[in-house]
Amino acid sequence: MKKLYALAALGTLLYSCNANQSAVENTGTEATTEATAATSDEPHRPQFHFTPPSGWMNDPNGMVYHNGEYHLFYQHNPDSTVWGPMHWGHAVSRDMVDWEHLPIALYPDSLGTIFSGSAVVDVNNTSGLGTAANPAMVAIFTYHNAEAEKAGKDDFQTQGIAFSLDNGRNWTKYEGNPVLENPGIRDFRDPKVLWYEEGQKWIMTLAVKDHISFYSSPNLLDWKLESDFGANVGAHGGVWECPDLFKLPVEGTDEEKWVLIVNINPGAPNGGSGTQYFIGNFDGSKFVMDPQFEAGLQAEPTIATTVNGQEGIWLDYGRDEYAGVTWANVPEEDGRRLFMGWMSNWAYANVVPTEKWRSAMTMARTLELVDTPAGLRVASYPVKELQHLYGPTYTLEAQDVAGALPISEKAPFSTPTFDLQLELERLSPDGQFAVELSNDQNQKALVGYDATRKQYYIDRRNAGDTSFSDDFAGIHYAPRLANGASFPVRLLVDVASVEFFADGGKTVMTDIFFPDGPFTKVRLLTESGEFKVDSGKLTELKSIYN
Ligand code: FRU
Repeated sequence: MKKLYALAALGTLLYSCNANQSAVENTGTEATTEATAATSDEPHRPQFHFTPPSGWMNDPNGMVYHNGEYHLFYQHNPDSTVWGPMHWGHAVSRDMVDWEHLPIALYPDSLGTIFSGSAVVDVNNTSGLGTAANPAMVAIFTYHNAEAEKAGKDDFQTQGIAFSLDNGRNWTKYEGNPVLENPGIRDFRDPKVLWYEEGQKWIMTLAVKDHISFYSSPNLLDWKLESDFGANVGAHGGVWECPDLFKLPVEGTDEEKWVLIVNINPGAPNGGSGTQYFIGNFDGSKFVMDPQFEAGLQAEPTIATTVNGQEGIWLDYGRDEYAGVTWANVPEEDGRRLFMGWMSNWAYANVVPTEKWRSAMTMARTLELVDTPAGLRVASYPVKELQHLYGPTYTLEAQDVAGALPISEKAPFSTPTFDLQLELERLSPDGQFAVELSNDQNQKALVGYDATRKQYYIDRRNAGDTSFSDDFAGIHYAPRLANGASFPVRLLVDVASVEFFADGGKTVMTDIFFPDGPFTKVRLLTESGEFKVDSGKLTELKSIYN
């Protein structure tokens, strides 16, 4: 019998397991209050980002929208604050901001522990696992068989499915698991499934060591290999993991293109794990890169968009966005492509200085395909629902900045949780700026623009505790994908992290930090040249635990 999730062990959980099939049944309601009490007042606990109440968390999994709820499952080790036997933790939200914690959805079984994957609603009941009136929510995940791995086998990762007929509250593993056997490849995982409307079939995008394999299925149960992509393109400094494939409209046109996300560890531009992507076309069988995108990818090392000589085009250039993928089944009326990543990096995730839990997710983001001087790129921006947490605002007047401009001093609040939006204007070509976040201990994080490199950066060298890993302190850079003198920038700051969105989300950077006191002080510094504030707002973000 597995150890039960502490918060759910109130007699509501019934766990059963046999050779190939297991089901977890529970009501899930008791978990909520305790989770809330446990998360309001601990050092470094984010106040508006999703964190597990306790234990280890990595990738977001199975993100799917159904009956008014956004589901977030996640890689979870409930018994420890370091990575270990993987389960799928579970939470739901009506706005991707305020989360209700639910009991663990998927436990390891005789086929293995439960690695990353996706979930879909089988609206047409192609699988026969639900009914037309009550379609099944189907989770497609990787079974990781640690014993087989230890025994020296290569085929220890296979794909399995589980289904729920009650909005993800109770799950049954499919008795015919695994639905996709391993052809003898050690890295064979993280299935992301979509319904391909044009061909009336399911497509599974799977990460296979150094490439992506596309499989198709009429029913989620029987899978056939369609094609492979990527062995010779993009970044290859590590293993390909957690892919995603979806269509996006090209902003300002009637065109649509396909985006293929490929997470990679290590090999990210600022070290460790990161999220790269490709733009092209998918015809139900093959993914082919857009010629313009491909040319950009090849030209990348020679133009200003390269960071630290790393190839690849990245969704987030910070060190702490990984395994990011998007929500399935978001209603057409909504029309958004919604994304969330894990806010850490495998380079140090297991040793960051938190005690009861490890890691947070990024804020949910909207992805859009936009034109930039480097060609079409995926821009991301925080979801508008974040406004549900808005508290008082301090509005900046238009002004020149000479040296330093205090911002938080005049704000009607003093919390390390805020949304800072600035419209800056560069008045001289050598103009560079930094937003400084600091505390009473004189620790600080800087988020700014380096005029010499023509790149944005986050400097967390003096942002608090860095002693836990030699690979943590540093300055991280990102290309600027906009021209001109106007620099619209936005920072979401939450106790132990900053998410930086420049030029409307064309450049994004996410970094975490562990200061000894809260970063409640904010200043704008112009270190060289001249900058002007055209407008600005500093808005308090309320805690989701209030
Ligand atoms: C990515 C990853 C996935 C795997 C999971 C295991 O962070 O390595 O490839 O399924 O984490 O927890």
